[in-house]
Amino acid sequence: MTIRRLPETLVNRIAAGEVVERPAAAVKELVENAIDAGATRIDVVLGEAGRALIAIADDGKGMKPDELSLAVERHATSKLPDDDLLAIHTLGFRGEALPSIGAVARLTLVSRTKDAAEAWSLTVEGGRKGEPVPAAAPPGTRVEVRDLFYATPARLKFLKGERAERDACEDAVARLAMAHPRIAFSLAADGRSVLKLPAQTGAEETARLARVAAVIGKEFFDNAVAVAAVRQDDEGEIRLSGHAGLPTYNRATSMHQYLFVNGRPVRDKLLAGAVRGAYADFLARDRHPAVALFLDLPTQLVDANVHPAKTEVRFRDPARIRGLIVASLKEALDRAGFRASTHVAIEALDLVRAPSPQYAFAGGPPISRGVAEASVAYHAPPPQAAAAFGASVPTTMQAPIEPRDLPLGIARAQLHETYVIAQTADGIVIVDQHAAHERLVYERMKEALAAGSVARQTLLIPEVVELDDAAAARLIAKADELGELGLGIEAFGPGAVMVRETPAMLGELDVKGLVRDLADEIAEHGAALSLKERLGEVCGTMACHGSVRAGRRLSGPEMDALLRQMEATPHSGQCNHGRPTYVELKLADIEKLFGRR
Ligand SMILES: Nc1ncnc2c1ncn2[C@@H]1O[C@H](COP(=O)(O)OP(=O)(O)OP(=O)(O)O)[C@@H](O)[C@H]1O
Ligand SMILES: [Mg+2]
Repeated sequence: MTIRRLPETLVNRIAAGEVVERPAAAVKELVENAIDAGATRIDVVLGEAGRALIAIADDGKGMKPDELSLAVERHATSKLPDDDLLAIHTLGFRGEALPSIGAVARLTLVSRTKDAAEAWSLTVEGGRKGEPVPAAAPPGTRVEVRDLFYATPARLKFLKGERAERDACEDAVARLAMAHPRIAFSLAADGRSVLKLPAQTGAEETARLARVAAVIGKEFFDNAVAVAAVRQDDEGEIRLSGHAGLPTYNRATSMHQYLFVNGRPVRDKLLAGAVRGAYADFLARDRHPAVALFLDLPTQLVDANVHPAKTEVRFRDPARIRGLIVASLKEALDRAGFRASTHVAIEALDLVRAPSPQYAFAGGPPISRGVAEASVAYHAPPPQAAAAFGASVPTTMQAPIEPRDLPLGIARAQLHETYVIAQTADGIVIVDQHAAHERLVYERMKEALAAGSVARQTLLIPEVVELDDAAAARLIAKADELGELGLGIEAFGPGAVMVRETPAMLGELDVKGLVRDLADEIAEHGAALSLKERLGEVCGTMACHGSVRAGRRLSGPEMDALLRQMEATPHSGQCNHGRPTYVELKLADIEKLFGRR
């Protein structure tokens, strides 16, 4: 076969395959061009999810007729004035987007510079470029893309359904809008308004916050902590800001991770990996945190030219960036302390709201409207009333105590030997005692291991646990590791082990049950993995046999001690899989339940 140079149209079509693989990619490129042109408002209109029409109007600096003509040429850009690929201050720089779109669609540009008397229009159809002709239009640029991929029908077949393509377009606009709060955005799809974002004013951080809230909803902020970190580099400042969702506010996909590098939305593996790493301790593998993080750094430290769609970047010092993100997120989550997301309570409320008619009591006692005041001067119910509910009411709790300063409140009752009910200043807290205890054990175990030793308590009478030979041998093989975790075991003839010491943090313990379960677990996971690598599970097993496990009645002081420990322990608001360990219902929510609001 002879080697030949491909014709320009074909070259552009091939390039278009990478740059505009779906309508959302064309939308992204065109909105980026408008942002780069200094627009203060950008309006996007879609027809049939962008396949029939993508129209983007901006009020940016516009183009003169000769610029229009050059703009649709391949590798023609106004954005690399000094040929330095590491000094990129714009979203575009490759000079490829317009020719690529023009190669696979019918592209019309209408543009007018600020001081020009008239606008000029230029059309490219399937790669064939026309001549600029005068047109009537306000200053700025209007780009229309019709019949996307008509010139490459194969590509059309790879598109997803209309709904999915439209969502992707919306996501592309939303992400760019989040990073550019001072620009007003609107998006309409098939005559329906999808997004309307007014320009934000005020300080940069405030504007960004307002924009992010407008795009992804206020609920995210109610369930997130602020992230802010600055590192000084020889070449300037590396700055991370934004918000990190609480682990209990986890999601099924990573769709809710909004990551930006120098104002560019990215789906970068390094960044996503760092986020995953920071949450690894709090979330099951198949759950994802919600985050909105903005990384700003000197352009020399990041290479944006590694991906045709510019959605990935390369950092000069990846380890440093990863470290910054992991440390800042962890620090932010530490600050969240025991907080679980309000989202949990909201979901719970949705479940219990509007009971079906058979639960509506006909003649209940009249309820006075004094609930809100009740929290101010609360008196524990008389013991006989509590007994009627089967709840254990601690005698020490009978004097009124102010729950004001205790975020998780004062324990009032335990229900079903599983849930601790506490009263807070303005609501009630329901704690899953077992899940909470499991998390406390895990956090304290981590802390103790980091500090070098886990406190042990010596059993008054060592306990002998009978097992089968193999199980006993497996345990003894791990005796050193178990010892580090506070469990002192030794061989006791074939098929048995003797336990002399247990981790002090577990309190009173069902030693036999624990040892048998640990043996099972080691068998299941094989001896290869160290117990520390599975610390979460090991602690879970330990907590299962500790004194606060589900199904055990707790005294008042025990319940309060649990609540206070939770308050003092970071990350105690969720179990090791991101499920909440407690739910808080505000009085206002409870009143809503009863239709009082
Ligand atoms: N909306 C617009 N307003 C003003 N000028 C524009 C607009 N869109 C494109 N241009 C001009 O056309 C040029 C080519 O645009 P194109 O998107 O093809 O390349 P680019 O933005 O330079 O780089 P990239 O391919 O990375 O997007 C730009 O460099 C810019 O000068
Ligand atoms: Mg561009």
